Amino acid sequence: MIPFRKTPRFISPAEAPQSEHERMALPQPIANFHVDGYHDPEPAMTARMHQEGSVFMMGQNPALPVMPDKPTLLDFFHYRFCDIAFRHLLQSAKSALDAGQSETVIVACLLHDIACGALLRVDHGYWGAQMLAPYVSEEITWAVKYHQALRYFADDSVGFKYPDAYDKFFGPGYAIPEYLHQAHREARNHKWYMTSRLVTLHDVYSFRDDVHVDPEIFTDMIGRHFRQPEEGLGFDNSPVAHMWRSMIWPNNFL
Ligand SMILES: [Fe+2]
Ligand SMILES: [Fe+2]
Repeated sequence: MIPFRKTPRFISPAEAPQSEHERMALPQPIANFHVDGYHDPEPAMTARMHQEGSVFMMGQNPALPVMPDKPTLLDFFHYRFCDIAFRHLLQSAKSALDAGQSETVIVACLLHDIACGALLRVDHGYWGAQMLAPYVSEEITWAVKYHQALRYFADDSVGFKYPDAYDKFFGPGYAIPEYLHQAHREARNHKWYMTSRLVTLHDVYSFRDDVHVDPEIFTDMIGRHFRQPEEGLGFDNSPVAHMWRSMIWPNNFL
């Protein structure tokens, strides 16, 4: 348990719906591709369903913390984000706060990797921007989308270099895909370029596992910049509500 995370509450297996049967969580199909072929766990699980009365996971997974009925942004930080995302987003925002950046930049830092928290990592800037669009300003959405591409491109004017970490993550010969070159070119000429660039600046220094930031210090700022829906994220019928529900119930069979 890392500091400042709220203590999670779990339901007991006995409280789970269909508790008289095992509830089986099917991995996402893409996880079953291997170099030696597609290892499909579904036939064996379906056999268990027929033979033993096991059912597939729907609703609250006992392995995950219970979410409030009307989840707020910070509830997702506390109860869904992995520890690295929790620490990293808060450290990024605190770094921007300490540097005297605008609230737009600070909130963009707080949210920039939100897709990696519990939804998915691939193209995380794009997914994150979509998840956020109904709730934050266009400028914050834009900054989150483009930070993904900007991380790959140096900007000497602010002292940003290609991250050493990327040489380690992807190998020194990694070729940046064309769509990110294109996004970088688009961003360079945009009026909000520097908002997204500042996100990358405070991003790069924010991967320490010994620095802990209390999310509550951002409560007022979130209130000013994030339109929290009354019904709770996931239940407000917004065009992206399904993305937030997918974090609440990530193991639903359908
Ligand atoms: Fe990122
Ligand atoms: Fe980041």
